[in-house]
Amino acid sequence: MESVDFAEVLSPDPAHFEHAVKEDLSTIQAEFAALLRNVSDEKELATLKVHLLGKKGRITGLLKELGQLSPDERQACGKRINELKSYVEEALGEAEASFVDRQMRERLETEWVDVSLNLSRRPVGNLHPVSQVQYEIEDIFSAMGFEVLDGPHVETDEVNFEALNIPKEHPARDMQDTFYLEDGNLLRTHTSTIQVRGMQRLKPPFKIIGPGKVFRSERIDASHEVTFHQLEGMMVNRDIKVAHLIHFMKVLLSSIFRREVEVRLRPGYFPFVEPGFELDIRCLLCSGKGCSVCKQVGWVELLPCGMVHPNVLRAGNIDPDKYSGFAFGLGLDRLVMMRYGIDDIRHFHSADLRFIRQFR
Ligand code: DAH
Repeated sequence: MESVDFAEVLSPDPAHFEHAVKEDLSTIQAEFAALLRNVSDEKELATLKVHLLGKKGRITGLLKELGQLSPDERQACGKRINELKSYVEEALGEAEASFVDRQMRERLETEWVDVSLNLSRRPVGNLHPVSQVQYEIEDIFSAMGFEVLDGPHVETDEVNFEALNIPKEHPARDMQDTFYLEDGNLLRTHTSTIQVRGMQRLKPPFKIIGPGKVFRSERIDASHEVTFHQLEGMMVNRDIKVAHLIHFMKVLLSSIFRREVEVRLRPGYFPFVEPGFELDIRCLLCSGKGCSVCKQVGWVELLPCGMVHPNVLRAGNIDPDKYSGFAFGLGLDRLVMMRYGIDDIRHFHSADLRFIRQFR
């Protein structure tokens, strides 16, 4: 740093004095600004500070010299020197702050620790498509005030048959090939058992659904499994009519298929409903014109349903003169197969991850 000759600045000639100080101060200021620009670390900055503001610093020196001046000169020059001093102090302060800032940024960049663990190679599972559709339907019905009930896989003959108006020698028992256990119990053949358990637990009015696995001694092929899935529904209240059944089925089906669906009811026989129906939907693939999916009839059979038989209500301690209800039994596997174009029910329990992973 080139030094300024203060002896000259503080020359005894008062006429030139103020002018000289002014000139000199602007030189110091320019010099300081240039030096400051080149400062590269805190140490250099501290040296610059001492050079100007330290005990023997240039500005300190100038201030000391003021004592030798007359009061007038002292006031004028003092003001200027102090202005420079404040300017220098402020600039040094800013520079210091920016060094601290930079230092912090550098530390943040170099000293951070990665606390995460790379799990990218861990396989992530997903829900089985049947579960996905089941949960979706549970949501749809929950939103309409239905309670989701569960029931055991091992059931009594009473719950699986008797309470559903299927007495011992009733021919309807032939429709279901039942797995009997040695103790006389059985694997439930349908989720209609959940209706029975619902009536045991709840007082009307109520709305329930009951999803779950069911078991039948079937010959296994592309559309028959020994273990498959149903979702039962039941609504009991005063004056429940077929119109209520149709309404709820339409809401359900348009939510599942994400568009308006047309439905029709055909008579169907099930001991626990009277009248009983087969509900068909207008084929979604050909809009009813006829195609291979609907076997050219324009309608696809989707679910059995009906008005709860008075005997079933009675068995559930509900007075059929006061209450009525509808019930339905949705075959979940079939629905999932239709929705995703799956052509073989055996995929569902194949435990083949390549199949499951398609439904992420
Ligand atoms: N439980 C019957 C079955 O598995 C299906 C069924 C038909 C359920 C009509 C119902 C119904 O609730 O009303 O074959």
